[in-house]
Amino acid sequence: EKKVTLHTLRRMKSESEAITMVTAYDYPSAKLAEEAGVEIILVGDSLGMVVLGYDSTVPVTLDDMLHHTKAVTRGAKKALVVTDLPFLTAHLSKDEVLRAAGRLMQEGGTSAVKMEGGEEIISSVKACVDAGIPVMGHLGLTPQSVNQLGGYRIQGRDLGAARKIYEDAKRLEEAGAFALVLECVPEELAKTITESIGIPVIGIGAGRACDGQVLVYHDLLQYGSDINPSFVKTYAAVGNASLHGIKSYVEEVKGGIFPSEEHVFHMKDDVLQQLYG
Ligand code: KIV
Ligand code: NA
Repeated sequence: EKKVTLHTLRRMKSESEAITMVTAYDYPSAKLAEEAGVEIILVGDSLGMVVLGYDSTVPVTLDDMLHHTKAVTRGAKKALVVTDLPFLTAHLSKDEVLRAAGRLMQEGGTSAVKMEGGEEIISSVKACVDAGIPVMGHLGLTPQSVNQLGGYRIQGRDLGAARKIYEDAKRLEEAGAFALVLECVPEELAKTITESIGIPVIGIGAGRACDGQVLVYHDLLQYGSDINPSFVKTYAAVGNASLHGIKSYVEEVKGGIFPSEEHVFHMKDDVLQQLYG
């Protein structure tokens, strides 16, 4: 199969073929996501919560993102890999944004960056696009602003907020973003935006009308994530399977069942005789 490019995504939108995106944070998860056929793998800063145990994405650093991006890009050969810029980065000077995004591409091997926000970060989007760094936007619930938003809640319900998100989506497209994540907004708003802009809109908690969907790996596989928002559907119980596996291992070691003959190495008889002979 061919590598997924920005062109692939554009074509999929124009042909109304649903785009699938999932997060991944390491080599095995990237390989599984790719084998399952997703077009886009996101190294999301949600890794701060689901794999590093922080209670928000705010503490995640560029080094964290680089470390995980390197592992993911070693496992992803066809899917388009996109990496989140960590907290604050999109609001820094043009030089600093370019340096951060540049490191994610050059050292991390990612193919694009995602940044949260609209109007406030347009100059950063333009700087990256001008430098040859593809940018994915992210509007609606922007988790890096959780302290400003006062919690993880639906965005764009009232007229003013809906208009702001709509305008920001237009601005991001104009600035050259190749796609847009819409998180936790009413289905009607997501539909209007999806129909009003030419770039693919990937939804999470944004209803059925988007050009594609994204879920967090650990949510979709119920793998150690304790928060389960209503917009998440779980497709496998990996956490439970893991727990049962580890429990059985503990029981078998304590019960003298593991290791058994098949797991053991033996010495040749003559060596054994000489050793004790
Ligand atoms: O970090 C992340 O996982 C994300 C997705 C939820 C879009 O930004
Ligand atoms: Na993110």
